[in-house]
Amino acid sequence: MCGIIGYVGKKNATPILINGLLNLEYRGYDSAGISTLESTCISNIKTKGRVKNLYDKDIDSLEGTIGIAHTRWATHGKPSDENSHPHLDNSKTFSVVHNGIIENYKELKSFLEQNNYYFLSQTDTEVIPNLIHYYYTKNNNFLKSVNEACKCLKGSYAIEVLCKNDKDNIIVVRHDSPLVIGVNEDDKYVSSDIPAILSYSNNFYLLDNDEFAMISNSEINFYDINLNKIEKKLKHFDYDITSSQKNGYEDFMLKEIFEQPNSVRETIGSHLSPDSLISFNDFDFKLEDLKNINQIYIVACGTAMHAGLSCKNTFEKLLHIPVTVEIASEFRYRNPIIDNKTLAIYVSQSGETADTIAALKLAKTNGAKTIAITNVIGSSITREADFSLYTHAGPEIAVASTKAYTSQIVLLNILAIYFAETLDFADKNFLNSLKNEILLLPNKIEYVLKNPDNIKNIAKTVASKKDIFFLGRGIDYTVALEASLKLKEISYIHSEAYASGELKHGPIALIENGVTVVSILTDLELLEKSISNIEEVIARGASTFVITNQELVNSNYNYVINIPKTNKFLSPILSIIPLQLFAYYIAKEKNLDVDKPRNLAKSVTVE
Ligand code: F6R
Repeated sequence: MCGIIGYVGKKNATPILINGLLNLEYRGYDSAGISTLESTCISNIKTKGRVKNLYDKDIDSLEGTIGIAHTRWATHGKPSDENSHPHLDNSKTFSVVHNGIIENYKELKSFLEQNNYYFLSQTDTEVIPNLIHYYYTKNNNFLKSVNEACKCLKGSYAIEVLCKNDKDNIIVVRHDSPLVIGVNEDDKYVSSDIPAILSYSNNFYLLDNDEFAMISNSEINFYDINLNKIEKKLKHFDYDITSSQKNGYEDFMLKEIFEQPNSVRETIGSHLSPDSLISFNDFDFKLEDLKNINQIYIVACGTAMHAGLSCKNTFEKLLHIPVTVEIASEFRYRNPIIDNKTLAIYVSQSGETADTIAALKLAKTNGAKTIAITNVIGSSITREADFSLYTHAGPEIAVASTKAYTSQIVLLNILAIYFAETLDFADKNFLNSLKNEILLLPNKIEYVLKNPDNIKNIAKTVASKKDIFFLGRGIDYTVALEASLKLKEISYIHSEAYASGELKHGPIALIENGVTVVSILTDLELLEKSISNIEEVIARGASTFVITNQELVNSNYNYVINIPKTNKFLSPILSIIPLQLFAYYIAKEKNLDVDKPRNLAKSVTVE
């Protein structure tokens, strides 16, 4: 987590750094800070809280045209002024911002303390500027000192360093945390991601692990870990900057929910033509490799994992290969059975989730074929996977994922169909009807989004509840999991999702007068059984809210929202939308910051 920004150029660095930080706040917003190189010293201004709090500080006094900046998601040390970045060494010669975790910081701290260094913060990061200074006293060389210090670090880091004695350069380096460098003729920008600096440049260098860059406004020199000079290719990225702005919506989350007809249209349009032909760019998955596969893992975290769960049945039905969906942070530590007959698919909106990337590396090391499904072009995961497929949902800024989830399900379904067609053993009529249904999704999503006020009114009636339950069977259960996650992360209401049939094995004890139970009913084959489960909670006093695409006769539910029918494998794409709005309107009713819920960050780049 955490976001870092750097600027080297001819303009005043501060407004550029603050603008970049605001774009990166989705990565953490516990505290923020800036260092600039001034004529005689490094100026350092930092504060607990949001980036905008920097405006209350004396930032007008900063004149430097070279600077580094940071927005924090606390790992070591609570959010406070002293734990905020940038961190200086004791002599105030170096300033450092850091994204990642230094796992051996205690060891390094005690080494430095033995050498008379002292510490002002509880962070792991503060060892870095002091360690750089330690080496600087020995070699008096900025680059060599940063390099020597990095060789001592264990863990993950993307860092930017200023040196009071070098008025021209900043040095940056990364190991398992992302870092990109944007360039214009006169200015250079460093950032944790591309969208944050897109308004300044479309041309980027993507730093690989253990590569160093020494950046001045006239040139950039790249080095490997042994400080041999290396060449890097400049890459051009075209993004639509307007899609990162709110376009009149009150919050990014609401905008992203309403963007879903388009984001899904883009996902489909990029991979499935109107005449039902599937094409994937640069996807050379050989038929022989596919024939060899005898198990599939879908691995991801949070919402992306729920998208994987929703697609397990599609892969199993179409390919007749067992599919296991796993949480990345569990998968990587449980010695899963992986060999060269394994296909492992990794789903990640950001493409930067540390656990997902580590789980991918594990499968690759054990001989599996790996595919990354991500929304961010050039993200770290795409550089690790054998193949990468993009959801093309457009930038997702709100911390709570919405449009990325629906696009992930669309793309996973298209991938399953593509493999089935390649293997040539699935029922062609079924595949064609599934493809037709995929093509109809954008219009059906538009229909679901037509009457948000219905959901808003329901949300108002439950906003004061302490607990809300979500139930579903089969694929509807996977939607219940996602709806429950959405609700708890932005409304802070405790909620649980259960497979409806599991309720009477324990959780039904929690159902009493006034408890709200939300049920998803889209699977005709399981309808009767699901209805019986709703009756069981009604009998115990629950009030009920049902999302369905079935005709329910004589129902006695408190609220019903009808959605269009579609192929069973695609139903989560339609049934989640009212529930995304449900979570959103409850959070608004409670006056909460929907886009930046407490304790969370958009990119989880630490374990
Ligand atoms: C929830 C949410 C998270 C992410 C998870 C994985 O709304 O956004 O649960 O889905 O942190 O992130 P990515 O997809 O970027 O790997």
